[in-house]
Amino acid sequence: MNNESMINTLLERIQKETGIVLKRDTDREKIQRFIENGGEIPKDFEPLSSALINLITVNETYFERESYHFDRLINEILPNIETASPILPIRVLTAPCSSGEESYTIALRILAMGKKISRPIEIVGIDISEEMIYKANRGCYSERSVHALSQEVLEHYFFQTEEGYRLYPIEEISIHFITGNLFDDKLWEDLGDFDVIFSRNMMIYFDADKNKELLLNFKKHLKGYLILGHADDHLNAKKIFTPLRGEGGNIYTL
Ligand SMILES: C[S@@+](CC[C@H](N)C(=O)[O-])C[C@H]1O[C@@H](n2cnc3c(N)ncnc32)[C@H](O)[C@@H]1O
Repeated sequence: MNNESMINTLLERIQKETGIVLKRDTDREKIQRFIENGGEIPKDFEPLSSALINLITVNETYFERESYHFDRLINEILPNIETASPILPIRVLTAPCSSGEESYTIALRILAMGKKISRPIEIVGIDISEEMIYKANRGCYSERSVHALSQEVLEHYFFQTEEGYRLYPIEEISIHFITGNLFDDKLWEDLGDFDVIFSRNMMIYFDADKNKELLLNFKKHLKGYLILGHADDHLNAKKIFTPLRGEGGNIYTL
């Protein structure tokens, strides 16, 4: 197989398995360089390597991104969910979580509420990039990543290291991160159901069919609210879920 057809086969496989559509010349060049530098091309029966996944994913994120969603989570969504049995944890999924800023923003916002929520809270973050999940578990962030946090939050929950702002361990809320592909049925088998699913700024990299498949996966595991980014696939979301009324939209229920 020549380089050109090798790249085409790989791009098709990436789209089919991860949803990510790589159409730009710069994407092809990236793959080309990867091959030229000796990057392993997975055989048909082999999974896509983490090196390749890290190369093709766009992991842009920061604390308090699209912060109106967190306002609504705290002021409206969590109080609504609270009414169920006090022993049951409230479960929040952040998929994708990238390097963890979104999951930790939720945790920090909940901590700021004090004891207003009496149920235990569990936050699960999933991302296909092993490198991002490693960063999420380390919880150490650049100035850029924390730019939207107040000085008060920074001083209270982070300590400064040579590498950046590192979070103190959060004990009150269970937070864990999983490397996984949201199109992998096996990933979903053990995840259980969620009261809230955040899925922001990933669908923009997929096509409409994959977005529909993803939204249907979410539907099987959602008990409460789905929160999408402003540029995600609202056409499909409106067909599958019911939009929630009010300011700061992009929120859906079953
Ligand atoms: C731009 S980030 C969005 C992060 C965060 N939700 C936010 O809005 O700031 C998109 C993330 O989607 C992840 N991703 C792409 N395809 C995925 C898939 N099939 N399964 C899980 N994560 C995926 C990428 O690794 C990347 O970290």
